[in-house]
Amino acid sequence: MTDIKPQANMQGGFCNVNKSGPCAVVIFGASGDLAHRKLIPSLFSLFQKGLLSENFYILGCARSPMTDETFQIKVRDTLKKDSPDVPYPKQEEFSQHCTYLSGDYHDTNLYTLLSERLIQLDSRYSTDGNHLFYLATPPNIYSPIIQHLGSTGLTKESEDRSSFVRVVIEKPLGSDLESVMALDRELHRVLREHQIYRIDHYLGKETVQNILMFRFANAIFEPIWTRQYIDHIQITVAETLGVEYRASYYEQAGLLRDMFQNHMLQMLALVAMEPPASFDADRVRDEKVKLLRTIRPFPLNDLSHWIVRGQYQKGLVQGVEVPDYLQEPGVASDSMVETFVAAKVMIDNWRWQGVPFYLRSGKRLARRVSEIAITFKNVPHSMFAPLSPRELAPNVLVLHVQPEEGISLTIQVKKPGPKVCLTSLAMDLNYQEIFGSELPKAYERLLLDCMLGDQTLFWRHDGVEVTWALVTPVLQAWQTEPENCPLTYYPSGAWGPAESTDLLVHDCRQWRTP
Ligand code: BG6
Repeated sequence: MTDIKPQANMQGGFCNVNKSGPCAVVIFGASGDLAHRKLIPSLFSLFQKGLLSENFYILGCARSPMTDETFQIKVRDTLKKDSPDVPYPKQEEFSQHCTYLSGDYHDTNLYTLLSERLIQLDSRYSTDGNHLFYLATPPNIYSPIIQHLGSTGLTKESEDRSSFVRVVIEKPLGSDLESVMALDRELHRVLREHQIYRIDHYLGKETVQNILMFRFANAIFEPIWTRQYIDHIQITVAETLGVEYRASYYEQAGLLRDMFQNHMLQMLALVAMEPPASFDADRVRDEKVKLLRTIRPFPLNDLSHWIVRGQYQKGLVQGVEVPDYLQEPGVASDSMVETFVAAKVMIDNWRWQGVPFYLRSGKRLARRVSEIAITFKNVPHSMFAPLSPRELAPNVLVLHVQPEEGISLTIQVKKPGPKVCLTSLAMDLNYQEIFGSELPKAYERLLLDCMLGDQTLFWRHDGVEVTWALVTPVLQAWQTEPENCPLTYYPSGAWGPAESTDLLVHDCRQWRTP
């Protein structure tokens, strides 16, 4: 295959860049992994790009006792590791906006102290009383934090909405339909929906956002984005990493909860939804929810023909030997937790009737790659005898989500030489080559949107509930009738268990090798 380099003369362009207004960011779980791996580096990146208002501060809140100074040192250490090339004074300047409060999340006293600190800091940094509370804690602590914030009056916005209070929560958002509905009831007791930001970091990825631009800012794709032209769609999210140090969470979750219910279904919704009337948070989310509601429930009496679950065994991942899932630290020796899922999803509406969407995601697979591949139908008739229509490779449009972000389209062309001499050629657009600089971090975009009050890239409660309604019966069936959809196994470094290949072979198709 040949690469066609894009012309570098992109014309015009429109970039709607907004800077955040004055705002306090309170991070619960500020001494933890998420805060230091993602949140602080992303806030710093916004600060460096001038996208944070000068009137901002970060109030870290966690159990570990620390003074403001110790927290600032920790923040600078994080930045040194994450942005080693950035001059020290910039890091120093940022850390001056960081303060800390320690306490027990279950203790009312913490929230009384927090209220007092916020009053002082709001006045010192002139943040106009705008508060963003980020819950970067384990999910079992969401409930006490939310209740306490509510009972201390910290979730109340001013009547005239001149200042805001927003709460950001991370997945896992519940572990099944019932628990997510309970969480929503709890949130809605003290917050209104416009104050709740449910993060799915996949939506912060540039290439995931580009799905909407690609589909709805170009006139030529939408007319062929239907069952008349599309044969099937594959969505792959493959990781080379194993469960790492997260067994205590992963043993309770498994891949269906960890990746499928959220990131995979979000991508599916973006690819398949109808065009919203405007790029407004509720219009976009309305269309996503409408689409998710049309997904056909998995037939529980025939589950193994629709969904395959697998667990990794030892093997070689990119030349490195890795152990069985069962030998990972913290994993039960008889664990039945799935580290891989492949599923065939059907959408019951006019646009997609009969078009299968094949979704797969797994840990310890051959390569780290996320992509959406849209395979178009074969030509209806071949004039290039002796080649039949099926021998002419179909067009495949691939939206490369990561790591090599971009778009490619495979087409058939005449190869110089004899009269009938055809070859497939990929027209590749590589974001890095075209736009040069490094793409913004997903959390950067999401945090900025939280401060700006734009909920487009965040889950709304009905969206979360509809995805849990789809996967909860599958989780229950795995528990109660495991023989109907047995756990399968795959060697690390493969593309999943053989049974996942059968899902497509059954339909006379095959997985693409990304
Ligand atoms: C997280 C999952 O949501 O996404 C992890 O909990 C997974 O298990 C991660 O590794 C993958 O994210 P990314 O951005 O590296 O593809």
